[in-house]
Amino acid sequence: MDSSPSTTLLASLVILMALVSPIAALPPSLGVGEQAGALLAWRATLGGQSQHALRSWGNTSTLCSWRGVRCGTRRRPVITGIHLRGTRLAGTLESLDFAALRDLTSLDLSRNRLAGTIPPSIAALGELHALQLQGNQISGSIPPSLANLTKLHLLMLHDNQISGEIPGQIGELGTLVSLDLSGNRLVGSIPCEIGHLNHLVTLDLSDNKLSGPVSFCPVNNSTVILENLNRLSLSRNNLAAPISKDIVNLFSLQHLDMSQNNFSGSIPGGIGDLNKLTFLHLSDNQLSGQIPPEIGKLARLKQLNLSANHLEGYIPTSIGNLTRLATLNLSANELIRPIPKEIRNLVNLECLGLGQNKLTGSIPNSLGNLTRLTTLDLHDNQLSGNIPGELGYLVNLEELNIYNNTLSGSIPSSLGNLTKLTTLYLCYNQLSGSIPQEIGNLRNLVWLTLSSNKLSGSLPSGLCSGAGYKISPLITTCWLDPCQQAC
Ligand SMILES: *[C@@H]1O[C@H](CO)[C@@H](O)[C@H](O)[C@H]1NC(C)=O
Ligand SMILES: *[C@@H]1O[C@H](CO)[C@@H](O)[C@H](O)[C@H]1NC(C)=O
Ligand SMILES: *[C@@H]1O[C@H](CO)[C@@H](O)[C@H](O)[C@H]1NC(C)=O
Ligand SMILES: *[C@@H]1O[C@H](CO)[C@@H](O)[C@H](O)[C@H]1NC(C)=O
Ligand SMILES: *[C@@H]1O[C@H](CO)[C@@H](O)[C@H](O)[C@H]1NC(C)=O
Ligand SMILES: *[C@@H]1O[C@H](CO)[C@@H](O)[C@H](O)[C@H]1NC(C)=O
Ligand SMILES: *[C@@H]1O[C@H](CO)[C@@H](O)[C@H](O)[C@H]1NC(C)=O
Ligand SMILES: *[C@@H]1O[C@H](CO)[C@@H](O)[C@H](O)[C@H]1NC(C)=O
Ligand SMILES: *[C@@H]1O[C@H](CO)[C@@H](O)[C@H](O)[C@H]1NC(C)=O
Ligand SMILES: *[C@@H]1O[C@H](CO)[C@@H](O)[C@H](O)[C@H]1NC(C)=O
Ligand SMILES: *[C@@H]1O[C@H](CO)[C@@H](O)[C@H](O)[C@H]1NC(C)=O
Repeated sequence: MDSSPSTTLLASLVILMALVSPIAALPPSLGVGEQAGALLAWRATLGGQSQHALRSWGNTSTLCSWRGVRCGTRRRPVITGIHLRGTRLAGTLESLDFAALRDLTSLDLSRNRLAGTIPPSIAALGELHALQLQGNQISGSIPPSLANLTKLHLLMLHDNQISGEIPGQIGELGTLVSLDLSGNRLVGSIPCEIGHLNHLVTLDLSDNKLSGPVSFCPVNNSTVILENLNRLSLSRNNLAAPISKDIVNLFSLQHLDMSQNNFSGSIPGGIGDLNKLTFLHLSDNQLSGQIPPEIGKLARLKQLNLSANHLEGYIPTSIGNLTRLATLNLSANELIRPIPKEIRNLVNLECLGLGQNKLTGSIPNSLGNLTRLTTLDLHDNQLSGNIPGELGYLVNLEELNIYNNTLSGSIPSSLGNLTKLTTLYLCYNQLSGSIPQEIGNLRNLVWLTLSSNKLSGSLPSGLCSGAGYKISPLITTCWLDPCQQAC
């Protein structure tokens, strides 16, 4: 009976499990004394207010209640977490014996005053899920041995002074979900091995000195790359080359910021297939060609910023499909033709920037329906005709900037209804008639420019008696029209 096949099977299963079980495969955890010793030795090297901040560290038998120390239990207590965010620790990581802390799953030393480099010995933390060192003064380069941290989900090294190139080995961190290296001094190109990080949801490389084109390599010839990537920020680098297919194929993207780089070529029509996008900033690059009509397929877009490029041609009418837009900035391009009438559909717009283009035709009356607008900037174009009285419906408007066009007729008195206006730039047009008295109702007005028109009469009496007049030195511009200097 006792040697039945099922008992034998069970016995061999137990042996097999003991052999393959991950617990059995782990090296034995270190003694409490060794772990505590590593922390105390590190504390001894720290300066500033660190000793005070870590004054609860000392009694080894209470290790698990030391400030910032979290324990788990295996055979005996092991430190699994160190969380000392914003505790004014000053020193380096070089004197921390990582090997003694190899059961750590979470290390958060963010927002301290740690300097020095990330020591390659950090690779000993093979169980680590989260490494947060952001907001320190860490310098040196990213050690390739970081690739040993194969269980990492979260790697945050942003806002430090890390230099050198991003090592290609980062592609070996196959479980990474969030990678933030922004606000450092990283150079070179983005390693294509980042494309191996199939679980990545957030990738922020902004504010560095990265250059070259952006391409992501697939793992094992897979056709989908970074299929979970939701947020990609590459802004404020020196990245160049056309916007590649590798970016246009990131179908999960909701947030794409490539602004303030040197990307060139035209905006690929395929961008219209990124139909989860809510945020698209491509501003301040060298992009040329037309705005692809496919942009109208991005029905969830809330922010579209294509300003400061060399975009030409007309504004596609499909822009009217983007009814969730709150910000639309196409300023500082070479766009021609009238503002499409479909713009009236964008009822959620708060910020509309079409300045510094070559737009012609008149200002559409229907803009008066976009009552959430706080900023309307149409300056430096070739717009003609009257200023539509309907603009008086834009009661949330704070900034109305239509200077340097060829607008004619008189200033509509309805502008006096825009009591939130702080900025009203009308200079360099062909406006005539007298300045309506209602402008005197604009008690929040700080900037008013009227020069270089054909206006007659005097300034309305109420003007410059508003609250702003008494507290803001800027109100002097009420008299010293800045257009006379600035324009
Ligand atoms: C250390 O902590 C233990 C348990 O709280 C306590 O019994 C012991 O007296 C402490 N030792 C010292 C040196 O404070
Ligand atoms: C990294 O891992 C490899 C094998 O997984 C090991 O041989 C090596 O010692 C580790 N490096 C460090 C610095 O711990
Ligand atoms: C990838 O594709 C190339 C050429 O198509 C082939 O030689 C190689 O074996 C493939 N690699 C894998 C891992 O499938
Ligand atoms: C890639 O292919 C190799 C060998 O075919 C395999 O060992 C590895 O697990 C694959 N990697 C992924 C992420 O599929
Ligand atoms: C940007 O790219 C242009 C060519 O497209 C090149 O002439 C220029 O030097 C680049 N500027 C920077 C800052 O890299
Ligand atoms: C758009 O991009 C420009 C240039 O990068 C920047 O100045 C501006 O703040 C951005 N945002 C909006 C809302 O226009
Ligand atoms: C815009 O919406 C209209 C219908 O509202 C649709 O016929 C058209 O295909 C859409 N255009 C784009 C570019 O999505
Ligand atoms: C649009 O972008 C330009 C820079 O390209 C910036 O100066 C301007 O303030 C932005 N306009 C709006 C309405 O946000
Ligand atoms: C605002 O929209 C309504 C309804 O679509 C329309 O009747 C009205 O003429 C529009 N007003 C302006 C100023 O375009
Ligand atoms: C401006 O306000 C006056 C009342 O002060 C109102 O009669 C007029 O219809 C308003 N005009 C616009 C365009 O909102
Ligand atoms: C008006 O805009 C033109 C380009 O459209 C520009 O050349 C000129 O300098 C601008 N004038 C002023 C006064 O800003």
